[in-house]
Amino acid sequence: MSDLTLIYEGKAKTLYQGPASDEIFIYFKDDTTAFNGEKKEIITQKGEINFQISRLIFKYLEKNGVKTHYLKPVDERTILAKKLDIIPVEFVIRNIAAGSVLKRIPVKQGFEFKSPIIEYFYKSDEMGDPMINPYHIEACNLCSMENLMTITEKTFRVNHLLKSLFDKCGIILVDFKLEFGIDSQNNIMLGDEISPDSCRLWDKVTKEVLDKDVFRKGNGNIVDKYKKVLERLQEELNDKSQSLC
Ligand code: TMP
Ligand code: ASP
Repeated sequence: MSDLTLIYEGKAKTLYQGPASDEIFIYFKDDTTAFNGEKKEIITQKGEINFQISRLIFKYLEKNGVKTHYLKPVDERTILAKKLDIIPVEFVIRNIAAGSVLKRIPVKQGFEFKSPIIEYFYKSDEMGDPMINPYHIEACNLCSMENLMTITEKTFRVNHLLKSLFDKCGIILVDFKLEFGIDSQNNIMLGDEISPDSCRLWDKVTKEVLDKDVFRKGNGNIVDKYKKVLERLQEELNDKSQSLC
């Protein structure tokens, strides 16, 4: 990747200019961070596993009619994707109570919401990704109300599809975060990654935590957990083309 033009170095991924002006290479790093980068470690193989999980999930979503930025794999931890103008909002869906929501509403961890909840966060490391609402989003020109409604609908659709996929893998989709952007033809597309870095995933039977909370809470190595997620997705989606080790 050394001869490519760097576009942006994020906490877990690096973006390089792709072969066409509206394409980018997304390189998945082993860097693992939490609490806005306060906790940081390099965890061997993490980038490779997240690349494979994201690739499988993006392909599954595309098959089910969700437009994503994913184009194709390039090597064992890089994808070619459409270049998007990313909307600086994190779209979070919660099916089960866990994480930051426990500080805001009177329910205990593990409470199953009657219906999924969507929350919006302003993407800003400096400000600690504060929670915002649709009025903030429109009033501050982060995204038009029309696009926000379209994205909200898409986010619920992705939840429906992913909940069902993970359920077949014996995994509960507790919550997750999505990012969207606009491509050069003005299409709204799902971007970023979908992996155990950006989702909470619990084993259906044992309730074993299979996501980045293991790192956040210092409860062991995430690679074994992430591998379990990948293996189950490969099994379910019949994809062994990039199996690990
Ligand atoms: P939260 O409970 O910390 O608000 O996180 C909700 C979901 O969003 C959880 O699945 C983890 C994911 N997430 C990210 O992908 N990036 C982030 O920066 C944060 C804070 C959460
Ligand atoms: N993604 C954020 C970070 O890298 C926060 C988190 O996932 O806990 O610091």
